Amino acid sequence: MTMITLALSKGRIFDETMPLLAAAGIKVLEDPETSRKLILPTNQPDVRVVMVRATDVPTYVQYGGADIGVTGKDTLIEHGGQGLFRPLDLNIAKCRVSVAVRNDFDYEHAVTQGSRLKVATKYTHIAREFFATKGVHVDLIKLYGSMELAPLTGMADAIVDLVSTGNTLKANNLVEVERIMDISSHLVVNQAALKLKQEPLRHIIDAFASAIRKD
Ligand code: PRP
Repeated sequence: MTMITLALSKGRIFDETMPLLAAAGIKVLEDPETSRKLILPTNQPDVRVVMVRATDVPTYVQYGGADIGVTGKDTLIEHGGQGLFRPLDLNIAKCRVSVAVRNDFDYEHAVTQGSRLKVATKYTHIAREFFATKGVHVDLIKLYGSMELAPLTGMADAIVDLVSTGNTLKANNLVEVERIMDISSHLVVNQAALKLKQEPLRHIIDAFASAIRKD
């Protein structure tokens, strides 16, 4: 029996991948929100799900800890995508990466004046590339979460973060001043596994492809 291991992360990616798995005839038998298990069984004896941190999904697939995974385009860009085949944009977990500042900060003035901007973010690759293209000098401060706090505490002028509804920004008196890119989740596949486990992986990729919502 050829075992297929799928890497997922908790939350929207897990929830929105379930209908796609259903299209492949796969049902996950435990809820990651309540189970302490890191390996979740499915109704298919040869398919299992490993629950990993969102930022670790590309790494698990790259090194063969998982054969396939679902990961945000943001995470994929920061990872670099080495060793990964990327067959499908799943059009799920949609959001955007944006620049946000305190609502009393004059961003336009700051970027046109040629001064250095202090930017706090977990997305250092995306932020560096974006501001380099704009010709704005930035000092990047790497954070791992709660980016919204950085401008509020005076540690940074701006943040680069995911925005979905905009509620988190609003609740913290921040405003979105630039949209850097639209984000959705992608299917990633280990390149060696794609050759060695071609048939079962093809089945999953094809089922996912036919179940993607177009909007
Ligand atoms: C993301 C992001 C924002 C929030 C935006 O965090 O970092 O904090 O969602 O969503 P909204 O625009 O709908 O308010 P997430 O919950 O993914 O967790 P994280 O803090 O681990 O990044």
